[in-house]
Amino acid sequence: MNRKKLIAGNHKMYTTLAEGIQLAKDVHNLLKSKAEQVDILIIPPFTHLFAVSGILKNTPFFTGAQNCSSEKEGAYTGEISASMIHSAGASFVLVGHSERRNYFNETEEQLHQKIKQALNAGLQVIFCFGEPLEIREAGGYKTYILNQLHTLKGFSGEEWNAITLAYEPVWAIGTGKNADKEQAQEVHAFCRQWISENISAETAQNTRILYGGSVKPENAADLLSMPDIDGALVGGASLQASSFAAIVNASLV
Ligand code: 13P
Repeated sequence: MNRKKLIAGNHKMYTTLAEGIQLAKDVHNLLKSKAEQVDILIIPPFTHLFAVSGILKNTPFFTGAQNCSSEKEGAYTGEISASMIHSAGASFVLVGHSERRNYFNETEEQLHQKIKQALNAGLQVIFCFGEPLEIREAGGYKTYILNQLHTLKGFSGEEWNAITLAYEPVWAIGTGKNADKEQAQEVHAFCRQWISENISAETAQNTRILYGGSVKPENAADLLSMPDIDGALVGGASLQASSFAAIVNASLV
């Protein structure tokens, strides 16, 4: 097992262009000596992608988008295609973030199409999934997650080389409440087993599964020490270069 950790900062709908550029520069300055040991990904708003990917060009850092269209191209006013994202210099895209699922009613069918478009455009996909609080409390979270994982059926072993998973329990996002390391590990191991049974044992060993949901400098080392947690998808704490850098540093211990 030799999965390089990936620490991603999802800036959501925060920062002006100037702030986003400054944040990317600060993150790069603080972490440039670490990029050989850990993959570092910055996911700014769409409007900042071209500028941020320009700043990170010729560095080992990666840039990603927060969403893409399920259509290749066409008369879809306001939509942004996977190939547009790729042409702006990004190499990753988030698909299925809980905020997209909940506030924009994205369905599993649409998410499957989005993954297809992203892979066809040459992007790496971070597929986000996770259960809401009522499902966690009722105990049916594995069935719920299984249903979300079915969205990933039909992609070849080769396509899986460009797929990363991100477990983001909805009850832990932006709440300051995180899954404890055993709760997260349980779901990550469950997902790896699913990949092994449905894709291949090799793909299961190679696929990175990130944890997201109130990852902070204080809890990052604990979570990232677990055998099936291969990185973090960080929201709030990625908006300050120093706290994002502290999380990256915690992944190295
Ligand atoms: P927080 O780290 O702010 O809880 O957000 C997590 C998240 O949604 C990352 O995509």
